[in-house]
Amino acid sequence: MATVPQSNIMFWSPSLRQVKRIIKPLVFIASLMPFAWLLLEAFGTLGRGLGANPIEAIQDWFGIWALRFLLITLSISPLRHITGMVWLLQLRRMFGLFAFFYASIHFLNYLVLDKRFDFPAIIEDVLDRLFITLGAASLLLLIPLAITSTNGWRRRLGRRWQKLHYLIYPIGIMVCWHFFWQVKQDILEPLIYCLILAMLLGYRLWRRRPG
Ligand code: HEM
Repeated sequence: MATVPQSNIMFWSPSLRQVKRIIKPLVFIASLMPFAWLLLEAFGTLGRGLGANPIEAIQDWFGIWALRFLLITLSISPLRHITGMVWLLQLRRMFGLFAFFYASIHFLNYLVLDKRFDFPAIIEDVLDRLFITLGAASLLLLIPLAITSTNGWRRRLGRRWQKLHYLIYPIGIMVCWHFFWQVKQDILEPLIYCLILAMLLGYRLWRRRPG
């Protein structure tokens, strides 16, 4: 594996105490904002509401935020290498769990509001519509990552933990594909997300290049 020198750029480096007491709670509250925003929209507090198709609006909102948190999680490692801000690693698990949180609400919206627990219709969707198959597979694969994200599981699994968590890369690809596949006309937005994912995965391959 190529040894890449750590960045010489000096960025702000908070103490562990500052990360735990100040940064983590702030990031936690900020990460809940998309959820709070949707609730406010749903109750018409922001004056706009959810539009003509609220179920689809909720579906899209939580889907896109799940993907955003997935990409934020994947960007922590490259950011740490480039800036030398090692403390960012302290936030990675939280971002990953928020990706799972938003993906779960995205699925629950589909299950409860969209399909109204019509399991035969859901199974038909999963089997017949490739983009739903990809979404379902991504969510299923996210479950073991969320469960084993704790320090206890990390210790217990040892080296297997890292191998298991490499699943985040195929999950990222499947989710981008899921997004790409469901758009009807304008492919610009999913294309931008796919490009960001390609850069994040490409950076990792570049770091592992031989010589
Ligand atoms: C069983 C699991 C899943 C189901 C059934 C599902 C279902 C759907 C459906 C029906 C849509 C299209 C809504 C529309 O017509 O506008 C959609 C869009 C989307 N989903 Fe999923 N999904 C699943 C898992 C996931 C996961 C795990 C993620 C991300 C981590 C995700 C991210 C997205 C994104 C980014 C969109 C596009 C949102 C937009 O158009 O702005 N989905 N999903």
